[in-house]
Amino acid sequence: MTTLGTPLSPHATKVMLLGSGELGKEVLIALQRLGVETIAVDRYDNAPGQQVAHHARTITMSDPAQLKALIEAERPHMVVPEIEAIATPMLEELEAAGAVRVIPTARAARLTMDREGIRVLAAETLGLPTSPYKFCNSLEELQAAIDGGIGYPCIVKPVMSSSGKGQSKIDGPADVQKAWDYAMAGGRVSHGRVIVEGFIDFDYEITQLTVRSVGSDGQIVTSFCDPIGHVQVSGDYVESWQPHPMHPAALEKSRQIAKAVTDNLGGQGLFGVELFVKGEQVWFSEVSPRPHDTGLVTLCTQHQSEFELHARAILGLPVDTSLRNPGASAVIYGGMEAQGVVFDGVDEALRVPGTDLRLFGKPESFAKRRMGVALARAADVDAARTHAKLAASKVKPRKA
Ligand SMILES: Nc1ncnc2c1ncn2[C@@H]1O[C@H](COP(=O)(O)OP(=O)(O)O)[C@@H](O)[C@H]1O
Ligand SMILES: [Mg+2]
Repeated sequence: MTTLGTPLSPHATKVMLLGSGELGKEVLIALQRLGVETIAVDRYDNAPGQQVAHHARTITMSDPAQLKALIEAERPHMVVPEIEAIATPMLEELEAAGAVRVIPTARAARLTMDREGIRVLAAETLGLPTSPYKFCNSLEELQAAIDGGIGYPCIVKPVMSSSGKGQSKIDGPADVQKAWDYAMAGGRVSHGRVIVEGFIDFDYEITQLTVRSVGSDGQIVTSFCDPIGHVQVSGDYVESWQPHPMHPAALEKSRQIAKAVTDNLGGQGLFGVELFVKGEQVWFSEVSPRPHDTGLVTLCTQHQSEFELHARAILGLPVDTSLRNPGASAVIYGGMEAQGVVFDGVDEALRVPGTDLRLFGKPESFAKRRMGVALARAADVDAARTHAKLAASKVKPRKA
């Protein structure tokens, strides 16, 4: 039986989000609706999720001492990582000591915090199909990996990075140095370590949202959302839609892969499993043990969005992953560097049929920073994509 408390009372159910961007903000809203007391943590003040939580805390989450001190001071029932750059060994220590429950598990947070842990688990431990890959610590090692079998074209990514930062494609020998330098400049922590992957010439890529929740018999059940299709530009998501039509055999394989990975990572919560598909062939790419950016589309397509599913699953509540209607999402970028931007054309955007908007409330805009997303529901995915992109194009951030 799940019992929830009253927030701001001695019996509150307390959840701490580590990372409070646009995805964390929606998880926090879902938790707030269930009367959960929320603590939103980020590395800067007034992060999107901090604006909707009971408590806001600003720390360096990659610093184990700061992280430990905060968790011990706040004593949340659960810690929910929203980002990768967290001192995950400290989370493992606190979880092992019984001081806190980490979602889905501290081990999952550690294995997915860089590209190495999860790739080795998927390809070597679980034997799942992935692109051919090698980890390299220098330009010489990178060249040797390419010459030794990875070949051209290939993709280089810093081991610690996300949203395409530091990632580039190498088409021939002339690009190798440039890709190495770009990876060194774009990694989150200057690790000097990259993964080089053989380029997969896929037909399309999907995110298979997968939920581990507690069933009526108390056992963990795995449920799947309809596949989400998406377009990535330089490794960053710009557009997504649901459902993405798939050959039944490819869908079946995708779900087998998603089940294998999430079974191993364990715990409760929603996962975003990224897969490449060509005909009936499926490759595992990576997994987020938390809501996925391409899954923002579920805010307008499912009875329960990926954020509600995550909130319910971690609290031990039943979930419903069914699709309500087709839909699409299109990203709104800042387009400039400025503080406290204003958004023109919000009314125009919302006049596009079947649309909705999320403006994340980020205090600072960058050219390539995701500031909002347009959502559109429609009778079919093509119409939804057109409407989402049209609505997004009407929203114009500018300096105040
Ligand atoms: N080996 C590959 N072959 C082809 N495309 C790839 C490969 N690896 C990544 N990509 C493309 O780059 C995107 C971002 O790569 P990903 O590994 O998911 O990085 P991130 O962690 O930044 O999301 C993918 O969604 C895909 O479009
Ligand atoms: Mg990705």
